Amino acid sequence: MVEVDWQQLFKAAELARQMAHAPYSRFHVGAALLLEDGSIASGCNVENASYGLTVCAERNAIGAAVLRAKRPVAVAIVVDSREPTPPCGMCRQVLAEFGSAALPVASRTVSGQEARWSLGELLPHAFTRSFL
Ligand code: THU
Repeated sequence: MVEVDWQQLFKAAELARQMAHAPYSRFHVGAALLLEDGSIASGCNVENASYGLTVCAERNAIGAAVLRAKRPVAVAIVVDSREPTPPCGMCRQVLAEFGSAALPVASRTVSGQEARWSLGELLPHAFTRSFL
């Protein structure tokens, strides 16, 4: 089991946030996933002039993790808002595809306020592949 270095994970999330393409909302989000092998996969939000095509930072980070065939064991998110924000509902469901209910999800504002949840708290009774 890998130890979570939250400082390092938040640093990666902040670096990702600085790359956000968010000219419409101007809400820049960075997400960093600690993977089971100790490496970090990160992502930023990428907006589009056709607004509905926007992809959140968390889902872009999941894409980077899938590319390395590794599961997330911790999630750090950095936002520039008054309060730390949890991932949106769509991202919670995508995280649930790859992470356990115990997956820790932490969000921090650029000014340093932090909140932490488990994925199971954020998305109880997630729809999973158990239907197969
Ligand atoms: N956004 C994220 O990147 N993650 C979330 O969990 C919520 C929202 C992005 C999408 C959009 O680019 C901007 O934040 C405003 O909604």
